[in-house]
Amino acid sequence: MNRIPCRALAATTTALGLFVLPAAGLALNLDQPTFVDDIAPILHENCASCHRPDELAPMALRTYREVRPWARSIARAVENRDMPPWDADPGYGPWKNDISLSDDEIAAITRWVSTGAPRGDGDEPVYEHPPEQGEWQFGEPDWVHEFDPFEVAADGPDLFAKIPIAPGFDEDRWIRAVEVQPGDREVLHHFILWRASEASTEVQDAWIDAWAAGVGATELPAGTARFLPKGRGLIGDFHYHPNGNASTDKTRVAVWFAEPEEVEKELINLWVMNAQFKIPAGDPNYEARASHVFSQDVVVRSLAPHMHYRGKDMKYIAYLPDGAERELLSVSRYDFNWQTFYEFEEPVELPAGTRIEVTAHWDNSADNPHNPDPTIDVTWGNESTDEMLIGFVDYVAAEGLSPQPAGAVISKLAELAQTHPGQAWRFDIQREPGKGPEPTAMLLPRDGVPGGWYVQFGTLALPAPIVDIVWDGNNVTATAQTPGNTMELKGSVQEDGTLRMNMGPGELVGTPAENETPSTLPTG
Ligand code: HEC
Repeated sequence: MNRIPCRALAATTTALGLFVLPAAGLALNLDQPTFVDDIAPILHENCASCHRPDELAPMALRTYREVRPWARSIARAVENRDMPPWDADPGYGPWKNDISLSDDEIAAITRWVSTGAPRGDGDEPVYEHPPEQGEWQFGEPDWVHEFDPFEVAADGPDLFAKIPIAPGFDEDRWIRAVEVQPGDREVLHHFILWRASEASTEVQDAWIDAWAAGVGATELPAGTARFLPKGRGLIGDFHYHPNGNASTDKTRVAVWFAEPEEVEKELINLWVMNAQFKIPAGDPNYEARASHVFSQDVVVRSLAPHMHYRGKDMKYIAYLPDGAERELLSVSRYDFNWQTFYEFEEPVELPAGTRIEVTAHWDNSADNPHNPDPTIDVTWGNESTDEMLIGFVDYVAAEGLSPQPAGAVISKLAELAQTHPGQAWRFDIQREPGKGPEPTAMLLPRDGVPGGWYVQFGTLALPAPIVDIVWDGNNVTATAQTPGNTMELKGSVQEDGTLRMNMGPGELVGTPAENETPSTLPTG
């Protein structure tokens, strides 16, 4: 029987974009695997995109000559699932962009190494180099930006740069594809293209695309696009890793637009985030959570956990309004070096009222080899030595082009997060039997001024005044004047920034308003 060359199969499956090649299709010889028949196809398919000259990985892994000296460390790296870098735990997804090895592939590699790493007979399969730099993958781009040269010294700590771009489009644009061409792949570790917020050209509000070693150009699923309102800025976010040779990086980014009539769904980049945590110095397993409630039916396409050097693990759970729980993703060995978007092969439909919760842990102890400083308490911040807790969620509205306006209360929360940081919380409250919980916004200032409890009325978020706020450390007592009622509220701010509060029907947990960023709001 003829064996279909692995590359041809792989090309077909990528072109169809539909299914992952089952391990059995490779017909691996697990008794006596050889480089020519079994191992080379695995390495070409899963490793060589990074392990080739001029890429970030330290050695090329294409030919028998290149691979043989590394056989033992390859076996170790794949057995530990350190390589290829893929941090999602098994059992989730399946993921469209999964580069992890199957159990059979790992078994073939370890068996091959333990039997002396034989070459086998015949010609070696030849690794096909992807198109050279300088060509663009999807033809002539609609817009190209070349960043100013960036000097990276030979040695020293990692460098980070956030560079605003003013593309100056005088019409709304729909982005359907992006290609990043790093100037120097040996020092550029990763790059994120952000959309700038309406308020500031230096503050991002949505993720557009990311590049890291081994990642090609991005084309969004047919019919979907990201929205860039006219006049809006972009931000290039660089992470450089000095590699021993001084270098000048000149990165270029190209964008392809969709015609508005081609766009069926706006791809929304939601930040399920919490900016209220404080990770104690030395704590090996500090936990914080963030959540977001969808106000309409949505279809989730991909997820990307984001923390910095102390990030340890993150889990996404969807709590459906009917009480069902669905674990969407668990990354139990989070690695800041790999900013991966996990793309569902089958997008996940979630009904209105679903709450997505992300739970994160950090290791701020000296045992974490990546920890820049285990002796300090760490809070939210932009520097990579600060921390973040964002569970990115890319989703589209189930009905219509863009999500409905997220609602006045959510807008209010986003506003309060900016105007009263750390003093406003979201409480989801059952206002009518038979309906799901609805968001309300609770503002409890610490400086003696009155607060408010914002509830949705029609299209407006109207406040019930809150008076007599007394703070005692993290404990608060306040009085709310709801229509026709005076209500005593008692609660306390928890370590994770949530507010536990007795609100009549019982104790409820409020999440910080900071979880509701403007990026969760409609952009159109
Ligand atoms: C996305 C890029 C990427 C892919 C894909 C990748 N590697 Fe790596 N690999 C790296 C980088 C970068 C390093 C060096 C830094 C590090 O160890 O994280 C590395 C290091 C290694 C090392 C040295 C580890 C050590 O012991 O120090 C081995 C062995 C290795 N890779 C094997 C593989 C194999 C085998 C595959 C495929 C099954 C693979 N890699 C896929 C990027 C990649």
